[in-house]
Amino acid sequence: MNIAILGFGTVGKGVYEIVKKANGKTESLHVDHILIRKNKECILPEMTDSIDDILNDKDLDVVVEAIGGIEPAHEYILSALKHKKHVITANKAVIALYLKEFTEAARDNGVKFYFEASVGGGIPWIQGLEKALRIDQVNSIEGIFNGTSNFILDQMSKRGQSFSEVLKEAQKLGYAEADPSADIDGIDVANKLSISADIAYNIDIADQDKMPIFGIRNISASDIDYFAKKGMSIKLIGKTHQRENKFDYIVEPTLFQSHTLEANTPDNYNLISLNGDTIGKLDFFGQGAGMLPTANAVVQDILDIKEAKDHLVRDFDSKVEYCSNLTKSDYL
Ligand code: NDP
Ligand code: HSE
Repeated sequence: MNIAILGFGTVGKGVYEIVKKANGKTESLHVDHILIRKNKECILPEMTDSIDDILNDKDLDVVVEAIGGIEPAHEYILSALKHKKHVITANKAVIALYLKEFTEAARDNGVKFYFEASVGGGIPWIQGLEKALRIDQVNSIEGIFNGTSNFILDQMSKRGQSFSEVLKEAQKLGYAEADPSADIDGIDVANKLSISADIAYNIDIADQDKMPIFGIRNISASDIDYFAKKGMSIKLIGKTHQRENKFDYIVEPTLFQSHTLEANTPDNYNLISLNGDTIGKLDFFGQGAGMLPTANAVVQDILDIKEAKDHLVRDFDSKVEYCSNLTKSDYL
């Protein structure tokens, strides 16, 4: 599998590192190109600033979009799909707006568009949700969807640091978005909720203007202290429910009693739950942000594409072998 990575920041570097790891498990994957900005120096032989050179490489199988934001990410993803390259992205902001367009372009061009890392970082949430939907109607989804805000609230309560100090640390650790207001004002959670609801309810809720969104910007260390004295923790929660073809959704800070799973979700972790009619409540827990957990989910998507391709090749080979063993009289 020949891979191009667009963007060499936290996620791009993580994917490169995992693919390069000589542990034998990813040796069939090769990074052929890394797209960097025009004004940047090429410090690795794979680096280029030309998206056209990448997309016109006939041997390229997969494009990993890791530049973030809306444009040119949207344009590059669409173009890659039209050049019949499989595309993988962790970019929830662009997917929340264009999921339908990307899925249709992938289908029309006979390639895959995968985005496991976009919700829940390293947690196999999209896969889990899709599996639940094979049998169940999923009528609610809720939980902690943002690693940065969880890290901020957790560290403020454990170490008594100020909001701005912990935010800086979350940025240093690679958890926060390029513009961290998306994390602390609830926009990132709204994007992840939109993607999850699109999949669960098979509807397009790209219009977030209607979604009530409240962030954590105004929560102070003394608020957290006060809640702790009452045996409570505050967490940024996204939730959506569906009933009789109607659905609601909200992003808001919520108080939990200290014994609950939510109150005990630490650091950069996410806790996402779905409710299905036969499976009941199912919880997904793990690192929701950070270089290697996120890159792990991206590489899992690449391996899924590789497995599907290998399966097709095996299937084809066995048919050729079967046919070549047949004589004309076998057909008659
Ligand atoms: P970073 O900001 O660390 O990396 C993005 C990289 O892309 C930077 O190196 C940036 O360069 C480069 N870039 C931006 N625009 C262009 C362009 N036009 N051409 C070439 N390079 C470009 O972000 P992350 O790696 O953290 O995030 C990438 C995506 O993954 C985002 O959509 C994010 O939401 C998502 N994500 C991130 C997670 C995380 O934990 N970090 C987890 C899950 C998803 P420069 O530095 O010069 O701006
Ligand atoms: N900024 C995001 C977060 C990255 O903190 O959850 C993972 O999507």
